[in-house]
Amino acid sequence: MSEAPAPLPIVRTVEALRAVVRDWRRQGLTVAYVPTMGALHDGHLTLVREAGQRADRVVASVFVNPAQFAAHEDLGTYPRREAEDAAMLAGTGCALLFAPDMEAMYPDGFVTSVIVGGPSQGLETDFRPHFFAGVAVVVAKLLNQVQADVAVFGEKDYQQLMVVRRLARDLDIPTEIIGAPTLRDGHGLALSSRNAYLSDAELTVARRFNGLLAESAIRAADKRPLAGVERDAYSDLLKAGFERVDYVAVRRADDLSVFAHGVVNGPARILAAAWLGRTRLIDNLGL
Ligand code: PAJ
Repeated sequence: MSEAPAPLPIVRTVEALRAVVRDWRRQGLTVAYVPTMGALHDGHLTLVREAGQRADRVVASVFVNPAQFAAHEDLGTYPRREAEDAAMLAGTGCALLFAPDMEAMYPDGFVTSVIVGGPSQGLETDFRPHFFAGVAVVVAKLLNQVQADVAVFGEKDYQQLMVVRRLARDLDIPTEIIGAPTLRDGHGLALSSRNAYLSDAELTVARRFNGLLAESAIRAADKRPLAGVERDAYSDLLKAGFERVDYVAVRRADDLSVFAHGVVNGPARILAAAWLGRTRLIDNLGL
């Protein structure tokens, strides 16, 4: 029988976090970092495993960042289960949980914003205009707080990964940003804490999301005109039972810009967001 892992140390202030990291540094150890909003599932844990491959010590953070939720979104009901999260992290080789309180992240008088252009334009921003400013400010802070050698983000949130890469490069944040592949269930549905909101009927539709995107990706890779590929993908999603499609788009994989001639002529990614009831799902794949 395997032994239960020791309880995970939890720090709640930047000072306490830095004291632990400083001590590791003194011992010559390297540090990898995985930021999250908690309610962890196996998808998050693949990032923790990836982090563990790349450094001697792994720090994870759990902070439900109000700046990236709009007033009508699910900030109030976003699941919070720190004890379970800590146990899952300890079992995956994480060495420290940083779970800052609101005061540590946004003290009275906080007025700074971080606006990333380029990859944050369009797609998610057309439907959640507040989102990437909220992500950018919190990720800039977290990366500075932890000062890790590498930080791991999921391709599940591909536009976020591109925005974070650009942010780190533009602000000279000395942490290497690593992208990790999306973990899916046996039907191809990307694991997400929001999948828990789906009814059984909605889940059946949700499980077709990835397959439909894969079919469109093949058409795009075949050099069909992207306007038609995107239009067909949009109607295929509606026919499959999605109630609303926010976007489905084929973009350059490295910076999410559009292909100038309307056909794929380099590394590409198909990205989509669609609704089932009150649940909004996003997914993407490489071509
Ligand atoms: P959260 O939604 O908790 O996701 C944390 C990380 O887990 C992100 O990098 C996300 O892409 C990754 N992830 C989620 N589902 C995944 C899956 N099925 N397979 C692989 N990776 C997956 O993304 C955020 O939090 C926040 O915006 C954050 C970056 C923490 C800033 O607040």
